[in-house]
Amino acid sequence: MEQLKIPEHVAIILDGNGRWAKAHNLPRKMGHAEGCKTVERTVEDAARLRIKYLTVYGFSTENWKRSEEEVGALMQLFRYYMKRLLKIAKVNNVRVKMIGERSRFAPDIVEGINCLEEETKENTGLTFVIAVNYGSRDEIRRAVQRIAAEVADGTIDPQSITEEVIANHLDTAGIPDPDLLIRTSGEIRLSNYLLWQCAYTEIYITDIYWPDFNKEELVKAIENYNKRDRRFGGRNQK
Ligand code: IPE
Ligand code: IPE
Ligand code: MG
Repeated sequence: MEQLKIPEHVAIILDGNGRWAKAHNLPRKMGHAEGCKTVERTVEDAARLRIKYLTVYGFSTENWKRSEEEVGALMQLFRYYMKRLLKIAKVNNVRVKMIGERSRFAPDIVEGINCLEEETKENTGLTFVIAVNYGSRDEIRRAVQRIAAEVADGTIDPQSITEEVIANHLDTAGIPDPDLLIRTSGEIRLSNYLLWQCAYTEIYITDIYWPDFNKEELVKAIENYNKRDRRFGGRNQK
């Protein structure tokens, strides 16, 4: 078989934890717990496949609207898995970065996120980006606020606001745009994920529920990506 071309940046919308739980007659939170294990395994798989950036959508700005019980369960899982992630990141030379607005979380969670970023910042392998309390529109809103403040204080002239300036004010500043976006559980929508960054991303949808996602599925998505004729505005990508 020809050598697989590994995409530099893979973004994932993990979906289907609830449906997985229902299919197994379990409470939704058990689906989320299984989903967290899949995130852990996927970080290791991505690191071994030499993917440079993996961005996973863990909790959206809209997910706060779920029941108090479900949001509470997700926060507890987050607390637990952040600690495990620190160990996994150390063993696998993974740098962790969070995108989204972290101040809405409880102080101990914010501290955990800051610590994860700080303690892994020198790692040179995979960059694992976790999107929590993330919504693309909110990210763009915050970027616009910062740019407007710079215009107001005279550090930037409105005529010099290029696409690059906008990209540099997003949470993903410094991270290349995703090459491949995977969504599990069959839904064919972006759900407010990386709207700016996915302008030319190849999209792969699988019916598999997130807790059942594994390395084989990841490789299948990459194989499918390898068959794509990537184009930007009608020209093949260099
Ligand atoms: C994804 O699974 C996890 C989060 C969005 C936090 P869901 O909880 O959305 O699972 P379904 O879509 O109800 O099956
Ligand atoms: C997308 O899943 C958000 C995350 C994976 C965190 P949702 O289940 O919240 O999305 P919708 O509601 O089906 O669009
Ligand atoms: Mg869902």
